[in-house]
Amino acid sequence: MGIRHEDKDKYEIGKSEYLWAKKSMPVLNRLTHRFVSKRRLENFKLGICLHITKETSVLLMALKEAGAEVTLCPANPLSIQEPVKSFLIMNDIKIFAKKEDTLLDFYDNMESVLETKPHIITDDGGELHKRALRRKFYIMGGTEETTSGVNRLMSWSEEGLLLYPIIAVNRSRAKYLFDNKYGTGQSTIEGILKTTGILLSSKRIVVCGYGWVGKGIARCAIGMGAKVTITEVNPLRALEAYFDGFEVKPLDEVISTADIFITCTGQVSVIGQDQFEKIKEGAILCNAGHFDVEIDVNYLNSLDPNHFSPRMNVECYRVGESKKKIYLLAKGRVINLVGAEGNSPEVMSISFSNQFLSIIYLSQFHEKLDNQIYKTPKKIDRKIILTALDSFGLKIDTLTAQQHNYFKI
Ligand SMILES: NC(=O)c1ccc[n+]([C@@H]2O[C@H](COP(=O)([O-])OP(=O)(O)OC[C@H]3O[C@@H](n4cnc5c(N)ncnc54)[C@H](O)[C@@H]3O)[C@@H](O)[C@H]2O)c1
Repeated sequence: MGIRHEDKDKYEIGKSEYLWAKKSMPVLNRLTHRFVSKRRLENFKLGICLHITKETSVLLMALKEAGAEVTLCPANPLSIQEPVKSFLIMNDIKIFAKKEDTLLDFYDNMESVLETKPHIITDDGGELHKRALRRKFYIMGGTEETTSGVNRLMSWSEEGLLLYPIIAVNRSRAKYLFDNKYGTGQSTIEGILKTTGILLSSKRIVVCGYGWVGKGIARCAIGMGAKVTITEVNPLRALEAYFDGFEVKPLDEVISTADIFITCTGQVSVIGQDQFEKIKEGAILCNAGHFDVEIDVNYLNSLDPNHFSPRMNVECYRVGESKKKIYLLAKGRVINLVGAEGNSPEVMSISFSNQFLSIIYLSQFHEKLDNQIYKTPKKIDRKIILTALDSFGLKIDTLTAQQHNYFKI
């Protein structure tokens, strides 16, 4: 009998986690194979800021095996899986992140990654790009993983601040349609369940934001028997939620009756000063958006500086004159990565194929690109979708010659 999982040391656990994720990431394994065998990233230095999860380890190992020198820092101070980190370090991937890091250290880690003078920057949230844009050394290009990061980069691009071309991986259909919706939808619910252990069935859940992430969360919550209400600021998305069968209301109308609030808007202070007093006793608040700004945690801290933690990743605040208790999960940071393990390997296989192929594309064509934001090239997007279909054993029909010509004059 082999060594039991619970008896393994950190490195061995990290290795098992890597292998476990890798076997469920067939799209990435198939699409990287050719570039790995030809060592297409030899002499390239990559500076990477991603959540340190088992799925990320599969991407980083593929980049390393393709010849790249990889340096990593975490995209969130609380999203570091220590065994995965040990495994990557033993495999010559330089990582700037310690378990006891302060917020200041978290940002210093990004500076340390940039000090290695990477040729290509891969980021999740735009913080590493923000710092890279102040540097003078030559960067060939960059990629960005998430909606909030892309939104920030778009605004910097409008101000003419970009110094290198950036592929907005999140804008690829093969990313947001699967990762944001199915991946984050499931892992957010998983994070809430692992953190609190509560029953979801019959709970009144408010999902703030009906974007790709919100759609996924709402779908999973209703699937578990919760009563779901959506709040939105975008009329089209609100109408979509209504037609998808959800109740749609302004936040103020549900603030005093709901059991759980989940923010996923990418916006700031969605639940803040005006709401905390009205929330009902025992309500749970959590966030799935990239930054910890959607719930105004600073204000909550000022309301109850003596808040306490009844269990891991749960903070209890006593607010208002009645000192009613409300519970904040994961300090308002991404609940699916802090309370659970992040998105499953099947979806990350698709997202990280996009990252891998975009990095290869930048390494080959950066000189032909302007300092602006690009979508993942259509050819890459399509290739990933076709490989995913094939990996899942799915076959589809093709148009007949008659159908192909049907719309032609
Ligand atoms: N946790 C994860 O693993 C993960 C994965 C993907 C994306 N994200 C992050 O989740 C957030 C949402 O991503 P998305 O792809 O769904 O974005 P999106 O732009 O598709 O959706 C955001 C929605 O929120 C709505 N909104 C904005 N302000 C609002 C407000 N005050 N009240 C109610 N609704 C409001 C917008 O109208 C929009 O429909 C981003 O921060 C993104 O970076 C997290």
